[in-house]
Amino acid sequence: MLVVLKETAGEVGQEAARIVAGAVRANPSAVLGLATGSTPLGMYEELVALHHAGNLDFSKATSFNLDEYLGLAPADPQSFQYFMHSNFFSHVNFSPEKIHIPSGAMRKDFSAYCESYEQAIKDAGGIDLQVLGIGRNGHIGFNEPNSSLASRTRLKELTRETIEDNRKFFPQGAEIPECAITMGIGTILDARRIMILATGKSKAAAVAKAIEGPISSSVSASALQLHPDVIFVIDDDASYALTQRDYYRRVLELTKKYTPEKLS
Ligand code: F6R
Repeated sequence: MLVVLKETAGEVGQEAARIVAGAVRANPSAVLGLATGSTPLGMYEELVALHHAGNLDFSKATSFNLDEYLGLAPADPQSFQYFMHSNFFSHVNFSPEKIHIPSGAMRKDFSAYCESYEQAIKDAGGIDLQVLGIGRNGHIGFNEPNSSLASRTRLKELTRETIEDNRKFFPQGAEIPECAITMGIGTILDARRIMILATGKSKAAAVAKAIEGPISSSVSASALQLHPDVIFVIDDDASYALTQRDYYRRVLELTKKYTPEKLS
């Protein structure tokens, strides 16, 4: 796991955008796995700016979002569908038919729907670069603690903590969804490359467990230790509980010197 320590959340967004842009420039038909939430907002802003500057073309790229709340129609301003369109897709030149976001409008037949989402990822050739955030409880996607490390796309019940964390995105008094459709940990680990972002003090404990703790279904993000190509981009606040920060800085310097392609 390559740990990239940045000072600020702004720098995390820029670094993340640089890596996504690099993947799309190297392979214009890249398949991107995308996340929502506050953490990747800076990355999307930067990608939009690169696109407007004429430096980044998404017309051949494909995307698969990690998750969607159950019970929210695509037009609902709190849906991840709405988030992705308002923060990213409506500002860049993705082909609408190449954008995939799980549907939260399902009422039944969840398994068949989730299998079809998995199949669509396979049909697209698999995910080249998966972008992730991390929950305070260590979740990736909505794989809450004790999710199977082999889990696939499915309906998942959200923990109280996640429901409370999500409250900030909903108007006061609104009912917060209790379930989501999410890619599984097994689905995420199938991506060829994974980039996970974390900013802010509230993520520090989860980040330390994910990077330096034992692999455990109690901390879904620790499963990333099993993947051979993971880059963790973290700001100062989110990194303070890590015990090996100096080593990560040295690894980064030596990576720049000997294997810079790992950072492109
Ligand atoms: C979002 C997702 C979640 C978030 C995580 C962190 O698509 O899958 O795992 O990445 O809850 O959310 P923020 O960035 O809002 O702290």
